[in-house]
Amino acid sequence: MDASTRALLLLTILFSIHFCLAQDENQFIYNGFHGANLHLDGVAKIHPNGLLQLTNISRQQMGHAFYKIPVSFNTSSSSSIPFPSFSTNFVFAMVPELPDTGGNGIAFTISPFMAFEHAVPSQYLGLFNISTNGLPTNHVLAIELDTIQNPEFEDIDNNHVGIDVNSLKSVQSATATYFPTEEGKNIRLKLLNGDPMQLWIDYDAAHKILNVTIAPVRSTKPNRPLLSTPIDLSQVLLENMYIGLSAATGAFSSDHYVLGWSFNRTGPAQSLETSKLPLLPPHKKSSQKPSNIIIISPIAAIFVLIMVIGAVYFRRRKKYEELREDWETEYGPQRFSYKNLYIATKGFKGTELLGAGGFGKVYRGTLPTSDVQVAVKRVSHDSKQGMKEFVAEIASMRRLRHRNLVQLLGYCRRKGELLLVYDYMPSGSLDKFLFSNEKPTLSWFHRFQVLKGVASALLYLHEEWEQVVLHRDVKASNVLLDADLNGRLGDFGLARLYDHGTCLQTTHVVGTVGYLAPELTKTGKATTRTDVFAFGAFMLEVACGKRPIVLQGLPEDLILVDMVMECWRSGAILDASDPKLEGNYSAEEMELVLKLGLLCSQSIPAMRPNMRQVMQYLDGSASLPEIQADRIVCTSAFTGSNDYEASDLVISFSSSFGKCSAPSLSSNESILHKGR
Ligand SMILES: *[C@@H]1O[C@H](CO)[C@@H](O)[C@H](O)[C@H]1NC(C)=O
Ligand SMILES: *[C@@H]1O[C@H](CO)[C@@H](O)[C@H](O)[C@H]1NC(C)=O
Ligand SMILES: *[C@@H]1O[C@H](CO)[C@@H](O)[C@H](O)[C@H]1NC(C)=O
Ligand SMILES: *[C@@H]1O[C@H](CO)[C@@H](O)[C@H](O)[C@H]1NC(C)=O
Ligand SMILES: *[C@@H]1O[C@H](CO)[C@@H](O)[C@H](O)[C@H]1NC(C)=O
Repeated sequence: MDASTRALLLLTILFSIHFCLAQDENQFIYNGFHGANLHLDGVAKIHPNGLLQLTNISRQQMGHAFYKIPVSFNTSSSSSIPFPSFSTNFVFAMVPELPDTGGNGIAFTISPFMAFEHAVPSQYLGLFNISTNGLPTNHVLAIELDTIQNPEFEDIDNNHVGIDVNSLKSVQSATATYFPTEEGKNIRLKLLNGDPMQLWIDYDAAHKILNVTIAPVRSTKPNRPLLSTPIDLSQVLLENMYIGLSAATGAFSSDHYVLGWSFNRTGPAQSLETSKLPLLPPHKKSSQKPSNIIIISPIAAIFVLIMVIGAVYFRRRKKYEELREDWETEYGPQRFSYKNLYIATKGFKGTELLGAGGFGKVYRGTLPTSDVQVAVKRVSHDSKQGMKEFVAEIASMRRLRHRNLVQLLGYCRRKGELLLVYDYMPSGSLDKFLFSNEKPTLSWFHRFQVLKGVASALLYLHEEWEQVVLHRDVKASNVLLDADLNGRLGDFGLARLYDHGTCLQTTHVVGTVGYLAPELTKTGKATTRTDVFAFGAFMLEVACGKRPIVLQGLPEDLILVDMVMECWRSGAILDASDPKLEGNYSAEEMELVLKLGLLCSQSIPAMRPNMRQVMQYLDGSASLPEIQADRIVCTSAFTGSNDYEASDLVISFSSSFGKCSAPSLSSNESILHKGR
């Protein structure tokens, strides 16, 4: 231990001599958390210097710190309620695992209990799970600091502050921004920059206004809040509530720290004393300014120089560190170096992000040596088990060649992470053209071309290659368009990754709600018929311009299959077509696609056509058999369930097949069925 480290330690100890006044149960102030009256769970811990760490950078973790004594909220609407109803502020810091890439966030929480063992991490922030999210009986208020954009919760971006009532779909949210009182302009804050920031939450019960304000730790509280939301918390909060902080990590992770916290039920919460707050452990900053080095003597200067070079060398090594094992040598040519991918994507910069799906984020990049444009998908993967098989499968998938498949170029492996490199598709994914206003609507001509293209790609995977390959996640967002608007199927075989090494007690069905065949959710066994089912949902989605399940906020959510079926029964099947086409389509082709979509969506697998037949119907070399609408039975899995808007999902259900022996998961069976 050298002198400076010792001095630093001494300083830390000095700083950690602090005050913690827990005068009464309805107010407290913690400038550092020594002796704090907190209940910790998950990976949360308090460091010797008083720093509260809610999570570290381990993935899929959560941590909670709750004030042990319940706080009483007067739910009666009596006018004697003192102003403000409550007030709190805390200083936090999020240090991402990689520059600009971290997750998922921190939430200040008021809850009827402090036991969250049924909650899940990742996008649920350690507060809810898929079945409790959105229930009015939760009685939970949360202010989220969210660093991942989750489409299923309609998150606005990956850097926002939101007010959540019983659900992670925020009542209101805004990009993290602060409004310095003097300058009168707003300044964007990057939650993941690793610096301490302060959040103030003030609720005025008389006017029923909830204010949320954010600023860097050195600033005083700005006059203007970021969010000022009318909300009646007497409808949400119960008489006795626990208050606390929750944080979670998912596929991406951050160290989530809290340095100090003050709460008051009876008046404005006292300000924290910045000088008394514990220090953060040293970390590399994403935008580091050079610090001034005071040179004492030439010898010291040389010594410092050697240290700096050494540190830079090790940091570079660590930055570009990869996992490479002996068995991988045979895949040499398909292996990309992490350094090249890092340079290609400008360090996985936010501006290069093409999208984020169930398996990870996708970045655009230009390979430094060849100038070739690629798409790089980062998939987090903790388990070593099964990696060898999976890489072998990647190697064979790389040999798949079809003009309607997105070409897989190769891979790279790091600790806990797999990177897949694909051809870059300049026009993006089909769902953007169908469902969002940022892209023009696709003409029927192009839509029909895309359907035929994707059908021929699936036929190739199922029947024309040397082995049977199941796609397992056919849907509009997995179909990419090339420069000429030809459809190309992407993401094949990725579902397989989730099978490896993850099945101890549970079975994972991978796919997307609305596209999952009913038998798949029951047996867990993916087949060519389950791909056909998903392709049926996809055909309907392209023809109708609607997702398979549309939440309308009505008691009855729209189930696309039912809607098309209804139109058919009433003798006007074309009424189901996408209104955005304004009638500009070939009625014959539209009718074919709608009916074929329903045929593929039939509940009984054996009733569905195979991909060869589908292809023949689509290219007109065979005509659809005459069928009556009444003869067709379609049920979409999960009909009637709430909160699933065709979101990416890995469903787990208790395995009734015993350990790892679920049909699609057995280790000797692969998506590449050998020896047909
Ligand atoms: C995170 O914390 C948990 C529990 O304290 C520990 O098991 C794990 O090793 C830690 N991970 C890292 C990356 O430090
Ligand atoms: C709750 O309200 C009642 C009257 O409305 C008042 O007497 C009581 O002191 C309040 N309790 C708290 C904790 O503010
Ligand atoms: C969700 O949490 C509730 C309790 O909070 C628990 O009863 C339920 O089993 C959990 N559901 C899942 C799917 O984990
Ligand atoms: C909330 O913000 C509004 C708008 O700046 C302000 O007028 C009001 O006094 C604030 N209320 C509280 C409780 O901070
Ligand atoms: C809470 O508010 C009361 C009344 O304004 C004040 O006297 C007290 O110091 C505050 N306590 C804390 C911990 O902020």
